[in-house]
Amino acid sequence: METISIIDSKNHVNEKVKIGVWLTNKRSSGKIAFLQLRDGSAYFQGVVVKNNVSDEVFQLAKEVKQETSMYVTGTIHEDSRSHFGYEIEIDDIEVVGESENYPITPKEHGTDFLMDHRHLWLRSKRQFAIMKIRNEMIRATYEFFNDEGFTKVDAPILTGSAPEGTTELFHTKYFDRDAYLSQSGQLYEEAGAMAYGKVFSFGPTFRAEKSKTRRHLIEFWMIEPEMAFMHQEESLEIQERYIAYLVQNVLDHCDYELDILGRDKDVLKRYTELPYPRISYDEAIKMLQDSGKFPEVKWGEDFGSPEETYLAEQFNKPVFVMNYPKAIKPFYMKPHPTRDDVVICADLLAPEGYGEIIGGSERATDAEYLEEQIKNAGLNLDDYQWYLDLRRYGSVPHSGFGLGLERAVTWITGEDHIREAIPFPRLLNRIYP
Ligand code: 4AD
Ligand code: MG
Repeated sequence: METISIIDSKNHVNEKVKIGVWLTNKRSSGKIAFLQLRDGSAYFQGVVVKNNVSDEVFQLAKEVKQETSMYVTGTIHEDSRSHFGYEIEIDDIEVVGESENYPITPKEHGTDFLMDHRHLWLRSKRQFAIMKIRNEMIRATYEFFNDEGFTKVDAPILTGSAPEGTTELFHTKYFDRDAYLSQSGQLYEEAGAMAYGKVFSFGPTFRAEKSKTRRHLIEFWMIEPEMAFMHQEESLEIQERYIAYLVQNVLDHCDYELDILGRDKDVLKRYTELPYPRISYDEAIKMLQDSGKFPEVKWGEDFGSPEETYLAEQFNKPVFVMNYPKAIKPFYMKPHPTRDDVVICADLLAPEGYGEIIGGSERATDAEYLEEQIKNAGLNLDDYQWYLDLRRYGSVPHSGFGLGLERAVTWITGEDHIREAIPFPRLLNRIYP
């Protein structure tokens, strides 16, 4: 008899198998017990018929508690009524680990309670579906950039630089020096691009943002591609192909998970149709002003969440907003060739109210210009000499971008809050569990 995973049931119909499972729920009558089972690969039902098993096994099936771990042996059958499509008719149960008073019961719980029990909440069906989709997006990311000829270059987490400004830095001691937790791997990816052409990083990044919104994490994972000999227009094409690839792979490989979440697949399919619309920051400001809904909005300001939501709603697809005011963007962005008030950059705004999922730009190539910018940003020039070297020795046009993984997961899964897009979220008031 083979030991299998629930997900492999389809290959074992009418066969006798053994599966290691946890009990998520159960109901029973005098003659039959239905055990809801999970093993991390899928969820399905075990059926225990009193007349077909020993008295001990039937008694155990009636008494076993939520989240008890056990081996069940039995025969796989098709089950057209269930979402999964298969069930197991159980002949034997062997308890592995008891479970008493599991805190997350099938009734409704408040968010704080669930967040306090995140280590257990991860076992729930919706959380399972979100984490599997997150995993698929990571897998597809490596596949996409590998197929496109990128080399993964890992950026450090402990750094002496502040690419995205100094207000959101996590400060720490580095022996007798100061250091910060990385806000972005970008500057290191630029060094990587000058060494290996097309590179990307994927790692945790940290922002001490005092914002308590549905879109902000203190610790989040970012994918940061950087391409040498590349202008912004070509970078935008890579960005939209990458996003469409993520959505397509989730559609192709996560049908079961999307069904668990009740996510509309036709809506997702629309997001695989390219190109995505492109508008300038100037046009975005005009659209907002003309809408009559944002009387306060003025050229030169960054968009808040309602503005981003409105803009993306006008297109029903992700939309690139290009060339923001220089004053509200980081020091490294390439200045516009004919206007000194904007830079060559774009944010990709996701529809359905999810806001900015990508920030990217072409990078300034001139060492003297960058020196000025670094000083103006209030940063210590000594810490950036290595970065300036990239412009001193064979500087080339180059562009790159950063995708916030959890923002993208929240959008593709259709979840309300970014805290559910990462296994153990770090939020303004939470570092437990
Ligand atoms: O726009 P950001 O700050 O850009 C950068 O860090 C660039 N250095 C990236 C690059 O060009 N290599 O951040 C990039 C993305 C955002 O679009 C958003 O998706 C995500 O990172 N992000 C956050 N996600 C969750 N919580 C936060 N607090 C986030 N801040 C940014
Ligand atoms: Mg940004």
